[in-house]
Amino acid sequence: MASINANFLKLKAGYLFPEIGRRVGAFTDENPDLAARIIRCGIGDVTEPLPEAVRRAMHEGVDEQGNRETFKGYGPEQGYAFLREAIVENQYADLGINADEVFISDGSKCDSGNILDIFGAGNRIAVTDPVYPVYVDTNVMAGNTGEADESGSYEGLLYLPCTAENGFVADLPQEKVDLIYLCFPNNPTGTVATKEQLKSWVDYAKANDAIILFDAAYEAFIQDPAIPHSIFEIEGARDCAIEFRSFSKNGGFTGVRCAYTVIPKTVTGSTADGTRVPLHQLWSRRHSTKFNGASYPVQKGAAAVFSPEGKAQVAALIEHYMGNAALLREACRKAGLSVYGGENAPYVWVACPEGVGSWDMFDKMLQEAQVVITPGAGFGAAGEGYFRISAFNSRANVEEVCQRIATVFG
Ligand code: MLT
Repeated sequence: MASINANFLKLKAGYLFPEIGRRVGAFTDENPDLAARIIRCGIGDVTEPLPEAVRRAMHEGVDEQGNRETFKGYGPEQGYAFLREAIVENQYADLGINADEVFISDGSKCDSGNILDIFGAGNRIAVTDPVYPVYVDTNVMAGNTGEADESGSYEGLLYLPCTAENGFVADLPQEKVDLIYLCFPNNPTGTVATKEQLKSWVDYAKANDAIILFDAAYEAFIQDPAIPHSIFEIEGARDCAIEFRSFSKNGGFTGVRCAYTVIPKTVTGSTADGTRVPLHQLWSRRHSTKFNGASYPVQKGAAAVFSPEGKAQVAALIEHYMGNAALLREACRKAGLSVYGGENAPYVWVACPEGVGSWDMFDKMLQEAQVVITPGAGFGAAGEGYFRISAFNSRANVEEVCQRIATVFG
């Protein structure tokens, strides 16, 4: 009999977004006449078409695959040089990152989960609370936690609360940890960290020989020029940080799939006998064994994000979604709700009215307004009492959502 990875049984009922989908499905079964009215502001999935420059490059890539002279079979597992170089030139100029420290993949969700392959057992792991559920669930799957308690917090993880009081930027741990997950601009709270705040994290990591797993999937939405886009803007980060980035939210690649992970060769972990080993070498080995690279047409499309036309078209997409975020913020504020985020990120984080739980809020918005939001409790115990509205939508839908918010809270 094949035994299973019993750690999976510790996971709570469902991954957050499928669970939301299930509840929406149940609502539409009961209220078929209202199904067409539903507007989804739950999962942060882009809605606007792929930039023209990206589509053209992808078409060219497909045509090359149809021609014997230009056909390509397996590509380099770590990604094509043309894309790795374009990334360094456009995203990491002057930050001391080399193209061979950039690993192309099919998504940041996959990378931020798969990264645990290269870390050993027994690490003390810190996550923020609320948190992108993938960091927690993949640690549960890997056996790095005990069971969940009633609030959904897992034994063995160190949860760092992010509250209105600390501006949703966690305080440094009071104890020594080995791995720290940070996400800025933050999913779900939409808040950002200043250079000073990130420096305090890098200093902590260096002092405690810890590694920062920095998720910068939403960096393109930063509007404030003083806010860092990369952890590698902070001195010392090249010794202690790994950064995840994606084409999903800026280039609209959620359905196309392309992302990258940056691992400087200077970041090391340790063997049981204390020998230092570069993490770069382990991740490269993992990629070669378990991955055959993102597809060629997709990488061509990703590189086109950095062409002059691509940059202008991506900037227009960002402007569109940030315009949505501004409208949603204003609608919630006018409705008398406390609003956070949404100024440098496509997520608006809203406090539920006094005494209302976040799943109750989810049900209320679905039943009374047919608007799907994400309940804060789905992101962790400290998310209770809040909900997230995604700004990824058409302008018409966002304007309609704003009116419905006014009706529900009017
Ligand atoms: C979210 O809604 O939090 C994101 O869409 C999740 C993701 O990017 O995987």
